[in-house]
Amino acid sequence: MQTLQIQKLQEKIYQLKEEKNAIILAHNYQPFEVQQVGDFVGDSLELARTAQNAHDADIICFCGVDFMAETASILNPDKSVLLPDLSARCPMAAQLPPKEVIRAKEEHPNIPFVAYINTLAETKAECDVICTSSNAPKIAKAVAKDNKVLFGPDANLGWFAAQKSGVKVINYPKKGYCYVHKTFEIDRVLDLKDSYENSVLAVHPECDPELQQIADFIGSTAQLIKFAKETDSETVIIATEIGLIERLQYTLPGKKVIPALSTAICRQMKRINLEKIVEVLEKENKIISVPEEIAEKVEKAIKKMLKLSS
Ligand code: 13P
Ligand code: SF4
Repeated sequence: MQTLQIQKLQEKIYQLKEEKNAIILAHNYQPFEVQQVGDFVGDSLELARTAQNAHDADIICFCGVDFMAETASILNPDKSVLLPDLSARCPMAAQLPPKEVIRAKEEHPNIPFVAYINTLAETKAECDVICTSSNAPKIAKAVAKDNKVLFGPDANLGWFAAQKSGVKVINYPKKGYCYVHKTFEIDRVLDLKDSYENSVLAVHPECDPELQQIADFIGSTAQLIKFAKETDSETVIIATEIGLIERLQYTLPGKKVIPALSTAICRQMKRINLEKIVEVLEKENKIISVPEEIAEKVEKAIKKMLKLSS
């Protein structure tokens, strides 16, 4: 899209936000021009915290994927939470249906189930507590019984939580994964590291354990941003979705921020664009709502996480 067209759409969005008393929350993987109109841009934990404190707004326009908008809606039952494209659904979230959690609990009675925030509300409602990529080890450690937790759907994040916390993590399903974070090839990443002298490698915990093991830093998207800003190294290779890296290339001009793979694109995140934000703010449609009996249970599990990770 042409710069002028981007600017026009962004101006229209600023005007609509004011008229409707709306705020825009955007995830770090959103297209850069969408991140620019965000009142807040962050990782899943930061977005949940911000949604919890969005008292003054009447409308929350959520630029991210379905489970994130659901979380914002559960924490704000009296506000309209809009998702500019209802087909922006995280495929990993679908890998853990509620029946899988029920089965896990039957197989391991009394062991708490820690649900990754990348799950749908009906699944979260069956779980004891939620975690995100930034606090999974801490939450696992805090709630473990007999030093064990049930965990899902992302087996790589489960592995990371186990390594960091020393808790035994039992994954449901056995090998849940994010298709974007599966695309990094270890040999290619090692070649890239060799070609940039004194570079450091930072990876998201949804990456395979083999990649995590050679990384200098592992963290959520917000933690990756912080690491890239603070490291003394001038060159940072990052293994995660490209939206985060594009943003860092703009905001950290003094550093070389290199994607481990430039085709690591989350198609679902990229379904949101400026035109769709304008449309949804004008029409106030595409509202995300969660049935009350499910929302009540999920709210408890999310609030437990927010308390444990504060
Ligand atoms: P973060 O919570 O680290 O932003 O991750 C969300 C996500 O979907 C990663 O793929
Ligand atoms: Fe889901 Fe992966 Fe996209 Fe994150 S990057 S929203 S886990 S598909």
